[in-house]
Amino acid sequence: MSFPPLASLPSHIHKILITGAGGYVGAETAKLLLELYPGVKLVLCDLKAPQSLGDRTETRAGDLCNAKVAEQLIGDEVDAILAFQGIMSGQSEANHALGYAVNIDSHKNLLEAAKKVFETKGKKITFVHISGLAVFGGERCKPEAFVDPMTTPLFPETSYGTAKAIAELYLNDYSRKGYVDGRTLRLPTVAIRAGAPSSAASSFISGIIREPLQGLPAVCPVATGPNDPAMDTVPIYLSRASTVFRNIVHALVMPAEKFPSYSRTVGVPGITVTPRQIVEALEKVGGKQALDLVTYEKDPKVIHIMQSWPGAFDNTVALGLGFVQDDPKTGFMLAVEDFKAGLKT
Ligand SMILES: NC(=O)c1ccc[n+]([C@@H]2O[C@H](COP(=O)([O-])OP(=O)(O)OC[C@H]3O[C@@H](n4cnc5c(N)ncnc54)[C@H](O)[C@@H]3O)[C@@H](O)[C@H]2O)c1
Repeated sequence: MSFPPLASLPSHIHKILITGAGGYVGAETAKLLLELYPGVKLVLCDLKAPQSLGDRTETRAGDLCNAKVAEQLIGDEVDAILAFQGIMSGQSEANHALGYAVNIDSHKNLLEAAKKVFETKGKKITFVHISGLAVFGGERCKPEAFVDPMTTPLFPETSYGTAKAIAELYLNDYSRKGYVDGRTLRLPTVAIRAGAPSSAASSFISGIIREPLQGLPAVCPVATGPNDPAMDTVPIYLSRASTVFRNIVHALVMPAEKFPSYSRTVGVPGITVTPRQIVEALEKVGGKQALDLVTYEKDPKVIHIMQSWPGAFDNTVALGLGFVQDDPKTGFMLAVEDFKAGLKT
């Protein structure tokens, strides 16, 4: 499936600050921006300075929980921010203070620094914030639910989801006040996540493919074995990684006027797969030897978190805004093939 081409970079955007750029989604989105927009310059920031991506990038080290760091980074020249820094769901449960500091305070620091630029220079920075499906929870958001993100109340059941929901509201309000031009994206699980496993409860979804394709063992934490009914009944909402990166760039370049006056939040489209479809894709691409590296061990903590994540969403609004969706029949398989191809390069 090919998607329509992305719009040009708006003429006022020359330099983009990417925070959390040493992480998976930040680094891959940075590469895509450099490929798509030959004139763009990037400032890549993380706790440790990220790897340079060439002469159109500057790299910085800094902890964004420090408001001064956020102010210095934005400085005079940044026209847009893609804010990827985050503490994932597992670690946010284990370390409440750190989760809140990074998932809320560091984003507020960036928003405050951008507001200062608006108030002193009249420049409105485009601000893309990344949220996730963990903002949902409660009775209407069981795995079997089909959720309309525009009308479903947010009852997050994790500290990660709570922090993401709070940061979404900040972004909406700073946009409503005119301090920034904000866009906040609830990403589905990004598949297949390359590199090291993350501390997200959903980390196993990529792990079951990523590790065995590299000859390493992986655990499926939602079933006791291939015959467990959970293999067919636990729906997982995800998107092919390349589609996610494309949707993030779309959020940056789409016109602000397309959003309703009351919200800058978008549920990025995904597709629903089951654990069975994941292991079947693994066998198809990696053969029986890869499949044999998967073991099964139910993890109550993972299951508890997964049970508050809906398995399917109504994407009408997001598609109307120009975001794109993988083909439900082929999307996951393509994600696995992308990952395998990446291993050879
Ligand atoms: N990967 C997914 O499936 C997924 C799904 C939904 C939402 N998200 C969100 O997307 C964003 C990026 O995810 P990812 O998978 O690339 O995560 P990642 O863990 O690979 O990257 C996050 C980066 O943030 C950096 N960071 C943490 N604290 C920081 C601080 N105080 N100052 C500066 N940098 C700091 C980390 O060093 C890390 O490099 C996160 O906000 C995450 O919550 C990801």
